[in-house]
Amino acid sequence: MKRTKVVDALQSTDFGNEILVKGWVRSHRSSKAVDFIALNDGSTIKNIQIVVDPSTIEADKLKSITTGACIGVVGTLVESQGAGQTSEVQSKEIEIYGLCPNDYPMQKKGQSFEYMRQYAHMRLRTNTFGAVMRIRHNMAIAVHKYFHEHGFYYFHTPLITASDAEGAGEMFQVTTLDLDRVAKEGKVEYSKDFFGKKTNLTVSGQLEGELGATALGAIYTFGPTFRAENSNTPRHLAEFWMIEPEVAFMDKDELMDLEEDFIKYCVRWALDNCKDDLEFLNKMIDKNLLNTLENVIKEDFVRLPYTEGIEILKKAAEDGHKFEFPITGWGMDLASEHERFLVEEHFKKPVIMTDYPTEIKAFYMKKNPDGKTMQGTDVLFPRIGEIIGGSVREESLDKLMEEIDRRGMGEQLYEWYLDTRKYGSCPHAGFGLGFERLILFVTGMQNIRDVIPFPRTPKNAEF
Ligand code: 4AD
Ligand code: MG
Repeated sequence: MKRTKVVDALQSTDFGNEILVKGWVRSHRSSKAVDFIALNDGSTIKNIQIVVDPSTIEADKLKSITTGACIGVVGTLVESQGAGQTSEVQSKEIEIYGLCPNDYPMQKKGQSFEYMRQYAHMRLRTNTFGAVMRIRHNMAIAVHKYFHEHGFYYFHTPLITASDAEGAGEMFQVTTLDLDRVAKEGKVEYSKDFFGKKTNLTVSGQLEGELGATALGAIYTFGPTFRAENSNTPRHLAEFWMIEPEVAFMDKDELMDLEEDFIKYCVRWALDNCKDDLEFLNKMIDKNLLNTLENVIKEDFVRLPYTEGIEILKKAAEDGHKFEFPITGWGMDLASEHERFLVEEHFKKPVIMTDYPTEIKAFYMKKNPDGKTMQGTDVLFPRIGEIIGGSVREESLDKLMEEIDRRGMGEQLYEWYLDTRKYGSCPHAGFGLGFERLILFVTGMQNIRDVIPFPRTPKNAEF
């Protein structure tokens, strides 16, 4: 018999039909007359109830079906008497695929996320992680759909590169050199390394993305990026996925329109396509989740020059708001608490902050005529802080070279990049959205380690 997925069985009204469902046992309750098994196969947050007449199965076998066990059930689809579900299965025959000993770490309900992180390989079988992973899948689909519908090409940039796209030096080196021998001999011969030079895992696909955009018009990347920053926070991963659109002939206003429209599209997609999972998370994780998502779609994002943002923060500090990191004034980099103050307390809606001081941003951003600020356009979100980092790119070869020089970034490494400015340079702009930060926002989860199946953070690379 062909298997029916739980999601389909729950929606079916073909009562009286015989079906086969398979899945993992979420709970098993026994009474004298009847046993109830809640079965989940990952196709939905909802479990299907299996009703077992104990006289139809050996007592030992029935007893062995504990939380976490994997079984297949042939039975009759019947209308459910219970509240909140339409159908259930009256069991005729149960096949056990895998029993689950009682040291199963996901046995108990209501374990903390910290506890579950120790069993990251098993936590996927819990309700919350099932919901988060289905939403993560849906958001990836939304990303591709949005850009495909808007005429962007999906462009694959390398994971191994010789450049530092952000110029921040936060890279994982890639080498085939024998590091023990290098340590003994005291010298590193990069010419003998696999690529004949020093290479690292990419921190961003942007620079190569610019090559794509200045040939194809509009591209986006969507792939893993790596940062060796020692940030142990609920919003940083060493390996995260980034979406980076890059568009020729785009100016700052159009860039902000794109950032806003794209995020709203993704959030709307989640509301339209992940209803059951979002309702579950709204009940269990954040009672305000659905409201927050709906509000973000409705509201126009505030567009706020950095200089005005600093004035607002200064005033808040003077009026007695306590910040952990003091507001030192113009030129300071914003901490996430500052970003969240602007978004959550001052404006009460998302903010696109623009025109940052040159010194706190990357070398490739377009300089404003004031000589002090650059055309950056970061999107700041409630609960998250920075969700998007973006900018108009400096298209002048001279200005870009000057900035690379000024920062001592070794021009020769960027020769291929500078060719975009040397040959037929064009105005262009783009941004990077941290995929996990988007998932954090959409799911209401608190820690970025809980929205990626296998998180990589300092001192943590299991599997
Ligand atoms: O602001 P960032 O560093 O910008 C760039 O990498 C640009 N090259 C993007 C571009 O213009 N094409 O990173 C972009 C976004 C951040 O806003 C944040 O959402 C996310 O990537 N991000 C991280 N997410 C998780 N863990 C980390 N360690 C992250 N670092 C950045
Ligand atoms: Mg940034």
